[in-house]
Amino acid sequence: MPAIIETHGLTRRFGGLTAVDHLDLSIEAGEIFGLVGPDGAGKTTTLRMLTSLLDPTEGSARVAGRDVVREPQAVKDQIGYMAQRFGLYLDLTVQENMDFYADLFGIVGAERKALAAELLHMTRMDPFRNRQAGQLSGGMKQKLALMCTLLHRPRILFLDEPTNGVDPVSRRDFWTILYQLLKDGITILMTTAYLDEAERCNRVGLMYKGRLIRCDTPAALKREAGSEDLEGVFVGTIRAAAALEER
Ligand SMILES: Nc1ncnc2c1ncn2[C@@H]1O[C@H](COP(=O)(O)OP(=O)(O)OP(=O)(O)O)[C@@H](O)[C@H]1O
Ligand SMILES: [Mg+2]
Repeated sequence: MPAIIETHGLTRRFGGLTAVDHLDLSIEAGEIFGLVGPDGAGKTTTLRMLTSLLDPTEGSARVAGRDVVREPQAVKDQIGYMAQRFGLYLDLTVQENMDFYADLFGIVGAERKALAAELLHMTRMDPFRNRQAGQLSGGMKQKLALMCTLLHRPRILFLDEPTNGVDPVSRRDFWTILYQLLKDGITILMTTAYLDEAERCNRVGLMYKGRLIRCDTPAALKREAGSEDLEGVFVGTIRAAAALEER
C-alpha cells in the first residue's frame, strides 16, 4: 500500500539552526503514529511542513498523494491540524467556536448541522455547547479544538501535543475519541510528551535535534533496547546520541 504521508530528506533550517534534518518518514493509511522527542527536537516544525504552512529548505513531502509545496490547497483540503496552541475564541461558546470554524471551511446547511451534532455527541460535549470556551476545563478545551479540526471531514489528522496539561481522566477520554476516529479510517500523526501515550501508538518516531533517531513499533523499540517501557528506550537512546556528539 502506498504511504499516505511520506517525506524524503525533509529539512528545515532557521538561519544556522537545522530544526528538521533530513527526515525520512513513511506512514500508511490507518496508522496512529507518535512523534516524540525533547523540547526543540523539531516536532512542530515537521508538522508545519507536512500541513503546508512552512516550506522545507530541502527535501520533499507528500501528504495524501499531494506535494506539500506545490499543492498546498489540495493538502489542506484533506487534513486537519490541531496546533500546539490551537486558536479557540475564549469569549465565544462551544457552538459559536464550531460555527466560526465551519464558516472558515465553507461548511453550511444540513451537513453542518449534522456534523456538529455528531461531533458533540462523540466527544460528549453536548451538554456544554452553550458554555463559553474560556469556562471549559483544559480537557474540554482540547476536545473543542479537536471538533473544530474535524469539521471538514479530514482524512488525516495532525495533532501537536493535543493532551498537554490535560488531567489523566480527560486524557483517557481524548484517547477514546482518537480510537473512534481510527476506526472511521482516519490516519493520525501526533506529537506527545507523554510516553504512556506514545505506547498506544502503533508506531513511534523519536526525534532528537531534528533527526529521527528511532522509528518502530513500541514493542520492537523496547525489545531492541532491552527496556520494559518506552521511557527507558528514550532516555537511553538520547543519552547515547548526546554522548556520541561530545566525542
Ligand atoms: N520560526 C522560527 N524561527 C527560528 N527558529 C525556530 C522557528 N521555529 C522553530 N525554531 C527552532 O527550531 C527548533 C525546533 O523547534 P520545534 O518547535 O519544531 O520543536 P518541538 O520539537 O516542537 O519542541 P517543543 O517540544 O518545545 O514543542 C527549536 O530550536 C526552535 O527554537
Ligand atoms: Mg512543538
